[in-house]
Amino acid sequence: MNKAKFITFEGVDGAGKSTHLAWFAETLRQRGLEVLVTREPGGTALGELLREILLRQPMHAETEAMLMFAARLEHIEQVIKPALQRGTWVVSDRFSDASFAYQGGGRGVQLSKLEQLERWVHADLQPDVTLLFDIPVEVARQRLSNNATLDRFEQEQGSFFEKVRQAYLDRYKKTPLRFALIDARQTPEQVKVDLTKIVALL
Ligand SMILES: Nc1ncnc2c1ncn2[C@@H]1O[C@H](COP(=O)(O)OP(=O)(O)O)[C@@H](O)[C@H]1O
Ligand SMILES: [Mg+2]
Repeated sequence: MNKAKFITFEGVDGAGKSTHLAWFAETLRQRGLEVLVTREPGGTALGELLREILLRQPMHAETEAMLMFAARLEHIEQVIKPALQRGTWVVSDRFSDASFAYQGGGRGVQLSKLEQLERWVHADLQPDVTLLFDIPVEVARQRLSNNATLDRFEQEQGSFFEKVRQAYLDRYKKTPLRFALIDARQTPEQVKVDLTKIVALL
């Protein structure tokens, strides 16, 4: 373990990302590493303002894609790169794969346009490892059914999440070596066993 790594958690709403992210970061800290936990959209003051807008305000799918990448640029320049440069590991709840999944798969924004934004915003940075929490959509929806308030994305239909899930799997197939695919249907204890194995490989 020498160079600080950039690790992202991805998957549909309800897959269990947030549940496991804090525990994962703590496991890294127990190895003596400095770890910064962050999220997208968000991660900076402007990013969190954009998050509020993105989660509430209806807008054109391409506006949504551009605002996601605008928030991401701030996040990269203000938070992610400075942390990595000072040797702090970064664990982010979502990153660009989520734009390919939600704005691309879910909303139908052209892949080529998202690839242009990706090159513009972070041609020189990709996550070292992406944990993709893969889960059948019905199971994920069931987990969210207890939530009192659902945001603009969480309120979408099952068919939207089927497309999101498929687009995530397409991203995985494109660069499989960057990904660790997690069977997110498992119990939290089983997921932790998988995460422990991943940490051992970092
Ligand atoms: N492995 C699991 N088995 C059953 N329920 C889970 C599991 N992981 C998370 N949950 C529950 O599912 C809901 C969604 O989890 P969360 O971590 O918020 O998902 P995400 O951040 O991916 O949207 C929460 O109520 C959480 O307690
Ligand atoms: Mg979450």
